[in-house]
Amino acid sequence: MKEAKGQKYKSSDSGYNAWLSYPVLPHGSLYDQYVKWCGTVKVTEENETIQAALQEWRQGIESMLDIKVSSESEGLCIAIGTFQGGNAVIRSVFAEDTIAKVGSEGFAIRTRAEAGCIAIGGSTPAGVLHGVFHLLRLIGSLSPIEQLDEVVNPVNGLRMINHWDNVDGSVERGYAGRSFFYENNRIVDDLERIRDYARLMSSAGINAISINNVNVHEWETLFISPAYLPDVSRIAGVFRVYGIRLFLSVNFAGPMHEGELETADPLDPGVRQWWKNKAAEIYEAIPDFGGFVVKADSENRPGPFTYGRDHADGANMLAEALESFGGIVIWRCFVYNCKQDWRDRKTDRARAAYDHFKPLDGKFNDNVILQIKNGPMDFQVREPVSPLFGALERTNQVIEFQIAQEYTGQQRHVCYLVPQWKEVMEFNTHAKGETSLVKHIVDGSLWGNRYSGIAAVSNVGNNKNWTGHLLAQANLYGFGRLAWNPDLSAEEIASEWISLTFGTDPVVSGTISRILLDSWNIYESYTAPLGVGWMINPEHHYGPNVDGYEYSQWGTYHYADHQGIGVDRTVQTGTGYSAQYIGSNAEHYDSLEDCPDELLLFFHHVPYTHVLHSGKTVIQHIYDAHFEGAERAAELLTMWSGLKERLTEDLYVQVEDRLQEQAGHAKEWRDQINSYFYRKSGIEDINMRSIY
Ligand code: GCU
Repeated sequence: MKEAKGQKYKSSDSGYNAWLSYPVLPHGSLYDQYVKWCGTVKVTEENETIQAALQEWRQGIESMLDIKVSSESEGLCIAIGTFQGGNAVIRSVFAEDTIAKVGSEGFAIRTRAEAGCIAIGGSTPAGVLHGVFHLLRLIGSLSPIEQLDEVVNPVNGLRMINHWDNVDGSVERGYAGRSFFYENNRIVDDLERIRDYARLMSSAGINAISINNVNVHEWETLFISPAYLPDVSRIAGVFRVYGIRLFLSVNFAGPMHEGELETADPLDPGVRQWWKNKAAEIYEAIPDFGGFVVKADSENRPGPFTYGRDHADGANMLAEALESFGGIVIWRCFVYNCKQDWRDRKTDRARAAYDHFKPLDGKFNDNVILQIKNGPMDFQVREPVSPLFGALERTNQVIEFQIAQEYTGQQRHVCYLVPQWKEVMEFNTHAKGETSLVKHIVDGSLWGNRYSGIAAVSNVGNNKNWTGHLLAQANLYGFGRLAWNPDLSAEEIASEWISLTFGTDPVVSGTISRILLDSWNIYESYTAPLGVGWMINPEHHYGPNVDGYEYSQWGTYHYADHQGIGVDRTVQTGTGYSAQYIGSNAEHYDSLEDCPDELLLFFHHVPYTHVLHSGKTVIQHIYDAHFEGAERAAELLTMWSGLKERLTEDLYVQVEDRLQEQAGHAKEWRDQINSYFYRKSGIEDINMRSIY
């Protein structure tokens, strides 16, 4: 045990317990308040989710307050249970109109001195569990609990994590070790780590997880066969306890790979029947199975195009098979032709999702959801918001983020992505009246969708601390919290995560919070400038390579020459992509004068001498941003070193190592990008710094 600023730290778990570490709280009036209320717990239900909530409560309280939790003693207590579960205290504390406001995953929480308890009630066990996590979070971040009285429901229906794990144990775009679901082409026997993962996910607010890669290789088509279903069902059983539904990615050509059909044509009656039988088989094994995630007709995946059918034909066939079981089809819009020749400067990958899916608006069944990446390209550090948000008025849709830092430093660099996601969610599409924010499209309220929500590609693996970079846990936690409530700020989420993970020492919180909140901007500064994107090594996507786009057999994708750089996506002279936006968004992006600086090179091809709104020329901006970015990356390490005495050595060193690598790597980025543009343009840095 190590003491710092009157606060005890437990011996290190290497980050395994993450935000459920339950660090010991400092003594003081809040501590006394917690001890007064929390030592006794009253539970009457045997349900396994309620029991999991009870276990979590004990673990959290005993660890944070260093007391024993009892269910016997008299006096003030915490009462937890469903409204209909027979706990008399719960029934007495909540009025009917409060109960009526609690949705299927939400909860009501109330401190009631007269009844001698703080009651957490839900209409389902999962809601109760969320309520318990909520109160533990309040305590872990030193909030008062004597006046609680609120009803909390999640804003988004679907709050989903997509794994890109392969059954051989590898993880596509995985930066935290191998899969903890699979080993040697089998599902692991010991589900303990999966249980802890479910706890973490549930506590952050997640209610759906797809457990296999969207690129479903032939072998993995067997996931929906008797060879695997019993094991998949074991995982679903663990998830179920924590209020999480299991989904599977499926291969559109399943009837040919797993089955013995000669076609996967979605209009073929035999194919349709095959999927119906398959759905029945799956639901037999997993009665609460969530449904399918599908990547079709993109990056060499099979799909309906082979048969001259469209995406609606494909998705609806699967939807029909799942409908009677309450299942859904999540059909991805990341569809583009990776072989396209763009030398005409009109062909544009950014256009693809809109061009494919806008004409199909209204043609999808009710239990199909389109899953749309946040930007039109592919999870770059800076992209505009996908114009499909706003364009689809009659289609269920979820937004897709990438928690895995494929293009944002691969969990070797710190890049807290919540501010980026917030910016996307707050984007005003102007689709329906003045204010039509992305967050109101994805929560289903703008168009009144049956299904809606938010999904993201996971960043976890079997590394001890789950995410490789300890600070990358903040993205995982932050995604869940944001999906639950998009109105939380990036600062609030960071601050919660820090207290729950490291304890409440204000110096620790202040420093880590600054590191996190600055990190996206820093990463952007020393990598690809002004929204142009990529500039990373092809295939593995780590490290600088200005011309490195993998599909660059047709020339540089950013069109840099000795005069200028950028992609002309305007209507008059470019690809016309800007017209996929609505009203003033289309006008602003299309106009060289109005286009925001940070997206200038995404929308316009300009000379290096073009003057930005900031007053700098494009070339000077590139130099300055890269010098400053590398310097600021080095400062992150200096800031972190101030925490040496305040953290356990193990946690301290893990992050120190990564920040050291980042500082060195940021210089490499700076030098490669600056020297490339110096040589191309022949224009000197006005500050005469050395460019290598
Ligand atoms: C990116 C990523 C691929 C992934 C694809 C997808 O292109 O590099 O590994 O398969 O996104 O989202 O499907």
